[in-house]
Amino acid sequence: MGKIICVSNQKGGVGKTTTTNALTMGLSDRGLRVLSVDFDPQGNLSFSMNAVCRNDSEATVYHVIKKECRITDAIQHRDACDVLPSNLLLSALDVEFTGAGREYLLKQALAPVLSQYDVILIDTPPDLGLLTINAFTAADAIIIPVLCDIYSLQGLIQLNDTLRQVRLRSNPNIRVAGVLLNRFNAREKVSGVVRETAASIARSLDMPLLDTIIHTGVALTRAQIQQENMMRTDLRSRAVNDYRQLVDELVRRGVVRTDA
Ligand SMILES: Nc1ncnc2c1ncn2[C@@H]1O[C@H](COP(=O)(O)OP(=O)(O)O)[C@@H](O)[C@H]1O
Ligand SMILES: [Mg+2]
Repeated sequence: MGKIICVSNQKGGVGKTTTTNALTMGLSDRGLRVLSVDFDPQGNLSFSMNAVCRNDSEATVYHVIKKECRITDAIQHRDACDVLPSNLLLSALDVEFTGAGREYLLKQALAPVLSQYDVILIDTPPDLGLLTINAFTAADAIIIPVLCDIYSLQGLIQLNDTLRQVRLRSNPNIRVAGVLLNRFNAREKVSGVVRETAASIARSLDMPLLDTIIHTGVALTRAQIQQENMMRTDLRSRAVNDYRQLVDELVRRGVVRTDA
């Protein structure tokens, strides 16, 4: 059965899409069958994976949820992985589904293909609204990328409140795989303080702080713009190697299994 991991943080620009993309490629390099789900109406993950749906009638995760097509018809196949794309249409979900059970839409949509993948990664929008709640409801685990600044770290408290609600209402089993420090710059004088503060806030919320830290690296941005495989784009890039280490750490912590 596929393990579902969502990458989430209500703040924009913290590295959710970058992390989803890098983990998709990194886990696929380990021989795992990976489905990468874009659950953000901005469609950034779809773009970086060359799975853009410009035409309103092209099948996306939105059409699957609306039961206008089967999930297998919306999934696009790439060399390394499969992608379930999204576009702006997804933003309508909030007003179109108002009744009971609206937090289970994504979980139900993914159910038919769960056995076909080892890992399903979900990229989420920068808020704690219905789409993110759907991702939390579907997921076994969550990875939370944060920038190395105090406001980003304080945002964890709000995110934790939402997680608590989800555990009570729709998914008692979701666990935090870890908080991931992103865009770390070891040369900055405050970097040590950032790490300590992150550790202390994560501890107070009972969330593990991942040992792996993602350094700032232009190779990541370039790969996304050029729609290249992020893990192959620049083998000397420290940030790319950080993501490789993150895959190792997720295996070590039992978040994903490579021997399934
Ligand atoms: N470690 C990093 N080093 C350099 N650029 C990064 C890094 N992480 C993310 N970025 C860049 O920052 C921007 C925002 O990242 P993104 O993953 O889109 O954030 P989010 O999905 O949380 O909004 C993108 O242009 C991305 O390429
Ligand atoms: Mg994003």
